[in-house]
Amino acid sequence: MKHLRQAIVGVDRELPLMNGGTAPYINFDNAASTPSLRRVLDRVNAFMDFYSSIHRGTGFKSRLSSEAYEACRRLAGDFVGADPEEYTVIFGKNATEAINKLSYRLRLSPEKVVIVSLLEHHSNDLPWRHQGRVLHAPVNRSDGKIDLEDLQSMIHEHEKDLALVAISGASNVTGHITPLREVGAMAHAAGALFMVDGAQLVPHKPVNMTADDIDFLTYSAHKMYAPFGTGVLVARRNLMSREIPPEYPGGGTVRCVSLTDVAWDDSPFRDESGSPNVVGAVALGEAIRFFQEVGFSRMEKIEHDLITRLLLGLARLPGVEIYGNPDPFDLDQRLGVVPFNLGDIPHALLAAVLAYEYGIGVRNGCFCAHPYIKCLLGIEGEAEKRLGEKIRRNDRRDLPGAVRISFGFYNEAWEVDRLLGALEEIWEERSRLVQAYEVVARTGEYVPRGHEDDFSHWFEL
Ligand SMILES: Cc1ncc(COP(=O)(O)O)c(C=O)c1O
Repeated sequence: MKHLRQAIVGVDRELPLMNGGTAPYINFDNAASTPSLRRVLDRVNAFMDFYSSIHRGTGFKSRLSSEAYEACRRLAGDFVGADPEEYTVIFGKNATEAINKLSYRLRLSPEKVVIVSLLEHHSNDLPWRHQGRVLHAPVNRSDGKIDLEDLQSMIHEHEKDLALVAISGASNVTGHITPLREVGAMAHAAGALFMVDGAQLVPHKPVNMTADDIDFLTYSAHKMYAPFGTGVLVARRNLMSREIPPEYPGGGTVRCVSLTDVAWDDSPFRDESGSPNVVGAVALGEAIRFFQEVGFSRMEKIEHDLITRLLLGLARLPGVEIYGNPDPFDLDQRLGVVPFNLGDIPHALLAAVLAYEYGIGVRNGCFCAHPYIKCLLGIEGEAEKRLGEKIRRNDRRDLPGAVRISFGFYNEAWEVDRLLGALEEIWEERSRLVQAYEVVARTGEYVPRGHEDDFSHWFEL
């Protein structure tokens, strides 16, 4: 396994602690963004000698760059089981843009219903709120899973107006995996389309759009060790209306233009206005090759061992509350994403102490899934209203949330042990923390009193 860790850029980097020392940085925030693979960076560097304008340039470099871009497009579809005859692969900047693009392209009428679930990332909820009527399929509060019976009833009840069921392949908060085939079958049986937000799932599990009968899938390269600004929308060609003009009309989107008329090109070209991010596509293509060579099962085994170790360790600590599935051996339908709180230590304070004193990078807060977090934490009614009012006034001191650990295949057991040791110490010293740190009302973040970051020693910004 050792050489898999060495595949990552910047791993084992010694970085500063608040006490003036350094420690090898531990990154447990992979659900947000993964670091780059070394071979992705090398590939990008090698490509830069040939990088040029694509598609209509006639020079050798342009021809080579165009071919590289289109080869990566083929890889990006093939990786998720999308036959190019049936599906179009559209590159953009991230998964959020891809979902917004789809919401624009489907252009639903206001009476149409879109069913999402309560566990969605905001990126697969808010774009739909401007397109038709969005309904949220409930989740069970106890385990945070989508209630499939409730989802089925909701689909039945709204069958007449239902246009789309749009669901996360896996939650970025609890790591729960959605049974895609089952949900897709429910959607299609009701005559609706089926879209999967694959931002979390695609980097961790094989996805096959054809086998699972998925109409639309989105995913993001920066969560797949290729952080060069590429997101992907894979869509059934026959569902991408030719009638609706591109949301960003301009260069690259047309067949011909007169002063009074425009003939739009086919997808993907009409959907990629302006000069595309060729470098980002090359980076994603190389990451996909890595995934194909290493294989999901090998990465999954590593991540499963880490989840088990973490959950067993957390269960031994006092005051820990885990959200989602706390069973260390029930691993099939989850990813390595674990949210928790430690007693009444504010999540933002805990995350700050882990970062400043132990060199451990985690994420805390609501993880762009406010409705889901409020459900998991049981915040509703008047309490939710009061909180909302305070946050609207830009005071985030009481922002609800949790600390989230999310693994990549390169994380190791000693890193989990260091985290567990840190949590134990933090719990014992919890009375010291309130004095040592202060909270910034506007952001809700805690910072050590009197501390100022000086990044210039490390990287000139
Ligand atoms: C489930 C899920 N969907 C969508 C997104 C948005 O992805 P991006 O940052 O690539 O726009 C994220 C990002 O964390 C996510 O976890």
